[in-house]
Amino acid sequence: MKLKNKVAVITGSRRGIGFGIAEEMAKEGAKIVISDIDQKECEKACKTLEKRYKTKTLAVKCDVSNKNEVDNLIQQTIKKFKKIDILVNNAGIARFGSISDKDEKDWDLTIDVNLKSVFLCTKAAVPYMIKQKSGKIISLASIAGFVGFDSISDYCASKGGVIAMTKELALELAKYNINVNAIAPGIIETKMTEGMLKDKKQREGLLAQTPLGRVGKPADIGKSAVFLASKDSDFVTGHTLVVDGGWLAH
Ligand SMILES: NC(=O)c1ccc[n+]([C@@H]2O[C@H](COP(=O)([O-])OP(=O)(O)OC[C@H]3O[C@@H](n4cnc5c(N)ncnc54)[C@H](O)[C@@H]3O)[C@@H](O)[C@H]2O)c1
Repeated sequence: MKLKNKVAVITGSRRGIGFGIAEEMAKEGAKIVISDIDQKECEKACKTLEKRYKTKTLAVKCDVSNKNEVDNLIQQTIKKFKKIDILVNNAGIARFGSISDKDEKDWDLTIDVNLKSVFLCTKAAVPYMIKQKSGKIISLASIAGFVGFDSISDYCASKGGVIAMTKELALELAKYNINVNAIAPGIIETKMTEGMLKDKKQREGLLAQTPLGRVGKPADIGKSAVFLASKDSDFVTGHTLVVDGGWLAH
């Protein structure tokens, strides 16, 4: 077991990639904190993990764009498990619309949920990691942080920001033995991509861009996250691991 007795906080983990990461980490022996915007959904996800993997869990409602709720998430984690070894900044939103149609509120919402959240969650968790002289921070970027995707200007900017911030945080936190990395998924089958993937033409278009010829699953990202959270990646920091079936190889 690669993460035996490690404590992992995963934001936006009631479903999708976040839950996929929680599952893969639970399989490796980690204690899991599920957090998302709906407490009941978090509790449901925890029950599933406990039943499937006999792991210890905690459910905490947390809007990652709200400083008080983020601070509470980390405090609840420390209260229950006494430490935090792994922070996964996963929560995110993608809302389509052209630059002409979107307004300032759209921009602020996406940047707050996808990028400010990385600042807030990392800031809240880091003092505990510094004290224990170890930590693994993993943030969800996207291939949309490397190349343009039509009609999600705010999303692309937020993910580009996550990639840049990952490098800076890696420099800043290396002296405390804290590794900071990101994962940039390609197209993964979740609620976020459901609309695109249901549309036959769009699905075919997306698959045509993916050399491995399939859509990714949350477990594909979960397994990469386990690598970045485990001792196997102790000499990896400031890196964005692209997990995209070859999309960016073009
Ligand atoms: N699915 C993909 O193809 C894909 C590709 C690249 C990157 N990503 C990134 O992966 C991450 C997970 O996405 P997903 O595909 O699982 O989407 P998803 O919509 O299935 O899951 C996102 C989760 O985040 C939660 N969330 C939304 N706003 C929140 C907030 N303010 N506070 C806390 N939680 C909030 C949602 O409730 C949901 O449970 C996101 O950061 C996304 O940008 C996804």
